[in-house]
This record gives sequence, structure tokens and C-alpha cells, in this order.
Amino acid sequence: MTSGFAKADCGRPGGPVVLVTGSSGVVGGAVAAMAETTGWVVRSVDMASGPRTQLVGDLRDPRTRRRALDGADVVVHVAALHAPHVGRVPDAEFWSVNVDSTEALLAEASARGVSRVVYTSSTSVYGDALVPDGRAVWVDECLTPRPRDVYDETKLAAEALVARSAVPAVILRIARCFPEPLETLARHRLHRGVALADVAAAHMLAVTATVTGTYNVAGPLLFEPDDTEQLYSDAAAVLQRRHPAIAAAFAARRWPLPQHLDRVYDSRAALAALGYRPQHDVLRLLGRVCAVAGHVCPAGSSAAGADRRDWAGE
Ligand SMILES: NC(=O)c1ccc[n+]([C@@H]2O[C@H](COP(=O)([O-])OP(=O)(O)OC[C@H]3O[C@@H](n4cnc5c(N)ncnc54)[C@H](O)[C@@H]3O)[C@@H](O)[C@H]2O)c1
Repeated sequence: MTSGFAKADCGRPGGPVVLVTGSSGVVGGAVAAMAETTGWVVRSVDMASGPRTQLVGDLRDPRTRRRALDGADVVVHVAALHAPHVGRVPDAEFWSVNVDSTEALLAEASARGVSRVVYTSSTSVYGDALVPDGRAVWVDECLTPRPRDVYDETKLAAEALVARSAVPAVILRIARCFPEPLETLARHRLHRGVALADVAAAHMLAVTATVTGTYNVAGPLLFEPDDTEQLYSDAAAVLQRRHPAIAAAFAARRWPLPQHLDRVYDSRAALAALGYRPQHDVLRLLGRVCAVAGHVCPAGSSAAGADRRDWAGE
């Protein structure tokens, strides 16, 4: 767990109160847990019950929003319909949950004098701009989003509401942090994934930051913009040249190195503005799997059965 997050001094007995929405979900649960261990008084709301959720209610309901915001100093708004819901949930529901609820939450937060909002967005908003054209796409915040489905459209529409809210706000476009099989997780961590612990740390930094703005939140950056052409034509060669230890770890598990990488997420703007330093690179991921699996894992060896289950939360 990252330590040393500054706490907002709101002069409230018991400490400042952070409301985390979506606290029964993957990201909201991790943010609520880290907020608690870093000394915040956590208030949490989700329409589904969960171990981190105090108030069960739908954020489309004004009473739920009022109850959730009562006494909150800052808000981390994570709750949303997500990419896996596309095609399973009507588009109108995406708009009402992801956009209308966000707008109403912001209005209520502003009326109550909430001092800061952190909004959890997604690198998915870049959409069709992530499609490579002869070279891997370098994904920093200068890339113009080109949403490709209702999830992207509604996250981007919510971002616009947050950006023009009266409450100072930070928007975090987080990379993929789903539970996934280890090999997939490791491949994604090379260029487009991020550990849940790093995501939670970024949210806590954003809560206490003085800046506003929109920032990518991804895993440790392994490449340079000059690499993009070769990453698309021969990613394995780039990895062997720049990161021989990673190449060796893949080889030891008999995992082929990726031949083509289509994109690289760059979160250096979040480093400059928020002090975000992702700690969990692919070697740390593989090392931790060995430790948790209870296997003796000399550098780069396989943690057999551990490779076949879904991993997240590191
Ligand atoms: N997990 C990832 O890889 C990832 C990547 C990029 C962005 N995100 C963003 O992070 C956020 C959370 O993602 P997640 O993976 O934790 O999803 P999740 O589905 O695990 O969690 C979302 C939570 O929001 C709650 N929720 C949905 N509608 C609600 C409503 N109307 N009222 C109250 N609660 C409601 C759900 O019950 C759920 O617990 C989303 O905004 C998503 O866009 C996640």
C-alpha cells in the first residue's frame, strides 16, 4: 500500500469525509479500501451491496444522492455502467446512469460545498483513435478521443460535465485493470494495463491535489515514442532490446513475446501534475504471483496453476 498521501484538512472532527460511489465494484472497492487505510473517513454508495458499501441505493434516485453526499467533503465518482454492459443494457440506461446521474451528483455536490471531485473515466474514450496505422499509437492526453460505442460516448459526455462543473475536479482516464488470466494480464501490463493498487493510489493523489485536469492512469511506461514503428512491426525485438529481464521472464514461462503492440499508454502527465508513480510493473506482477501461489519461483520460472486463474488486486 502506498503511504504518505496528504489528507485534506477540512476541520471536521474525525477527519475529512470522502464519498466513494461504486464501492461494490472492482475499482470503487479498491479506492474505498485505500482511502480508509490512509486515514479518510469513508462514505460509500452502490446499488449493489458489498463489503465496502455502507449505503445501498441507485444514484439515479435523488434521495440516494442526498443521503450519500450528506457530510461529504470530497467525492470520488466511480459508479458507472461499464464496457462489459455494452449490448446487454439499453443505451438509454447508459445515458441515465453514466451521464444524467453524474450531472445530478455534481449539482448536488456543488450545492453542498463539496471541495473536490475525482471522476473515474477510461482510456476507452480514445476509441477509434487507438487503431494503429503502421505504428503503435502513442496514447497521451493530446490524442483526440474518437468514441466507438455507447460506453465511450457516455464516459466522454460525463467527462465534459465534470470538467465544466463548479466543483474543482480531476478526471482520471484509467487503463484496463480487470481480473484476467495471468498471461493476458502480463501482456497488457506491457503497454495498456495497470494494477488496481496503482489505480487506487492515483485516485487518492487526485483527491488531495491542487490541480484540475484530465490524466491518463496506466502502468509503468516501458517505451519511448521513437519505438512506435518497431513496436507495431516487431514488438519482441523492442522488448528484448529495452527490457531483457521481461523478455527472459516470458521465455521462462514459455510465453511468446507479443509480435505487435497496437498502443502505448503514457501517464507521465499524471506524474507531473499529481505525483502518480505506478509501482506495479510486469516483473513485480509475476514475482507476486509466485509468492502468493506458494511456489518456489526462481527468476522467471512459472507458478504453474497460478497462471490459469484470473489475477487482479495486486
Ligand atoms: N475495471 C477496469 O478495467 C476499468 C478500466 C477503465 C475504466 N474503468 C472505470 O472504472 C469505473 C468502475 O469500473 P469497475 O471495473 O469497478 O466496474 P464494476 O462494474 O466492477 O463497478 C461499478 C459499480 O458501480 C455500481 N453502479 C452502477 N450503476 C449504479 C447506479 N446507478 N447507482 C449506484 N451504483 C451503481 C455497480 O453496482 C458496480 O458495483 C467505471 O466508471 C469504468 O468506466 C474501469
